[in-house]
Amino acid sequence: MALRTIRIAGDPVLEKVCREVKEMNPRTQDLIDDMFDTMYDACGVGLAAPQVGILKRIVVIDCGDDPICMINPVITLREGEQTGGEGCLSLPGKTGTVTRPMHVIAEAYDRNMQKITVEGEGLLARAICHECDHLDGHMYMELVEDGLYDVDMEAMEEES
Ligand code: NI
Repeated sequence: MALRTIRIAGDPVLEKVCREVKEMNPRTQDLIDDMFDTMYDACGVGLAAPQVGILKRIVVIDCGDDPICMINPVITLREGEQTGGEGCLSLPGKTGTVTRPMHVIAEAYDRNMQKITVEGEGLLARAICHECDHLDGHMYMELVEDGLYDVDMEAMEEES
């Protein structure tokens, strides 16, 4: 396990569409472990593989309940609406207001390549949408409603 370097907005790797994971192997297991370590070290609630320079459809999320690893995630249901502050580990020190669904369901594979269904409400729904966007080369700045603001370190805990 090791920390990986988080790519910062402007890095072209963050603008690319990631490839599906076809099979699990030790290298990808190491990547997932490193993604969790890197996310926790940076006090984030989510991280997508392109944020550490790997163009694979893998995201990790931990909103405080359970660590979730989703491989090849597809959001199959979006319901309701929430408007709130969002941040990204690839844009440190910034936040902006983004409207997201309040409730989502995503189909994915876990790290053993078993099919899973992840249901998210509130912050988890927001994190799932935010991380899945990364896999298609999109970042939340494209969605902010009122520009970006500087945040202090205490307000950064919702970063993903
Ligand atoms: Ni992000």
